[in-house]
Amino acid sequence: MPEIVWDSKLYDKQHHFVSDYGADVLQWLAPRPGEDILDVGCGTGQLAAQMAEIGAEVFGIDASTDMIATAKASHPNIGFEVVDATKLPYKNLFDAIFSNATFHWIEDQPALIEGLYNALKPKGRLVAEFGGKGNVKSITDAISVAAKNLGLSAKLINDFWYFPSISTYTTLLEDRGFEVEQAWLFDRPTKLTGEDGMLKWINQFATHAFKNLTSDEAEAIKSLAIEILKPKFFNKGEWTADYRRLRIKAWKR
Ligand code: BEZ
Repeated sequence: MPEIVWDSKLYDKQHHFVSDYGADVLQWLAPRPGEDILDVGCGTGQLAAQMAEIGAEVFGIDASTDMIATAKASHPNIGFEVVDATKLPYKNLFDAIFSNATFHWIEDQPALIEGLYNALKPKGRLVAEFGGKGNVKSITDAISVAAKNLGLSAKLINDFWYFPSISTYTTLLEDRGFEVEQAWLFDRPTKLTGEDGMLKWINQFATHAFKNLTSDEAEAIKSLAIEILKPKFFNKGEWTADYRRLRIKAWKR
């Protein structure tokens, strides 16, 4: 799975759509005052802060020290900690677990799901949204085609992210004992900021794909991929990415 370096300031400036869209996921969670809520992959803490405003007792975790440092500085009244989501140390502590745009980065899904289940109190709920089957397929296809046309396929890392189907993911959850109430796979075309939005997106989210290439080779692939994408995804000075989300709500019974 990808290694990625998060720059929290750049993330909030250039890629703030991640938490902007996350506000919609919060509606499935419907946090209540006094509830203990774990935010897995909290980033800079913007959604944790929205839950805290409602009166929930939120605790945010993220694998990135930079994200957690920014979250702590921005929201000093909320607890945040650097924790690996595949090694959650909590037992029967939370009424609910929330996660936005995180699970697709995680390779060891059984370890993640085990930790989520254990962290919830009985009758606790999990609400998570992440990339679903087919997410950003036009972008990954364009990168692969560009690498092929340049004779660089062998050096490109094609194993991009974990984007499961509804049946794959609900089966994983049910196998661990969750009862899945809702699962929704839907297209969510996502506007990227600026004329160089696609290049910035690739540089933020897909750097791992290029790690075996020289910088000249990587730049050549990115330029060609952007040319391939432009006719369909660049319109009136704005880029759109073909995001497809998987949103789930499940219970620990
Ligand atoms: C996503 O949120 O869907 C996503 C983010 C980065 C890379 C791939 C997908």
